Amino acid sequence: MKIGHHFLDLDALDSKSLRAILTRASVIKEGARAQNANLLEGCVLALIFERPSTRTRISFHVAMLQLGGQAVMLSLEESQLGRGESMADTARVLSRYVDAIVIRATKHRTLLELAKYSEVPVINGLTDFSHPCQLMADVMTFEEHRGPISGRVIAWSGDGNNVARSWIHAAVRFGFELRLACPVSLSPDTQLVAWAETEGGSVTLTHDPQSAVEGADCVVTDTWISMGSEGTENRRGLLAPFKVDEALMSLAKPDALFMHCLPAHRDEEVVSSVIDGDNSVVWDGAGNRLHAQKGILSWCLT
Ligand code: CP
Ligand code: NVA
Repeated sequence: MKIGHHFLDLDALDSKSLRAILTRASVIKEGARAQNANLLEGCVLALIFERPSTRTRISFHVAMLQLGGQAVMLSLEESQLGRGESMADTARVLSRYVDAIVIRATKHRTLLELAKYSEVPVINGLTDFSHPCQLMADVMTFEEHRGPISGRVIAWSGDGNNVARSWIHAAVRFGFELRLACPVSLSPDTQLVAWAETEGGSVTLTHDPQSAVEGADCVVTDTWISMGSEGTENRRGLLAPFKVDEALMSLAKPDALFMHCLPAHRDEEVVSSVIDGDNSVVWDGAGNRLHAQKGILSWCLT
């Protein structure tokens, strides 16, 4: 096991490592199931969820089973975390039982605390700051449909949330142009956009969805109300102009893909005719969570 081989955020890893993870994911996906059935034999993954999850939780669990390992779920309510045991102490203990830990944390600092005290790899299964595992599946999905993402144009229209931040990291590491259109008060931190520039990336922030989407190869959005941001302000009013509908999609390239990490709220951030339309790859993206997780797990554990 490579100590410190955490998967915390895409900006913490170099392009070569991220590409290696995606290559592993594709090779495992294309290979016969039996070929990799023992890849993680004897390995146990702990999955800590402070927030609900369907895709992340099941895809990591199934990935472990299909690679010959096992998974153990831990919720706040069912563990001493819910009674105030610190994440640092939990990390010290779990490191003695399991080979890697996935956490979906309410606060990003909880992930960082776990990673600091864990002696086994820690994987970010979403925090209020970022969602790097999602982006591995998204890049994989784009490339399966349209070839290399490098140099292509991706437009984000909506909340400048955790998933948007990971798109910024991905744009830099995978070399594509990212145009973000977000309401002024719901835009990602300008420091993050500045970071992208210093890294030589092409990330622009606008408040005009039409200009962001013009000529794009792919249009992406996400829920207007992320876990933890419920009731914080008039989000629906602010985000209404950023809804992805057919008029907005018509400004992108004619074959532009539509992506969404899911869960989706039809006729809120995206109209049904777009998410259920011919250019939507949301189900392939969700399916690739399983394959991307396999790439991440094998990179962390072998
Ligand atoms: N996209 C995603 O992470 O979905 P879940 O919240 O269901 O895990
Ligand atoms: N931005 C969403 C993503 C869910 C997978 C949230 O944090 O709730």
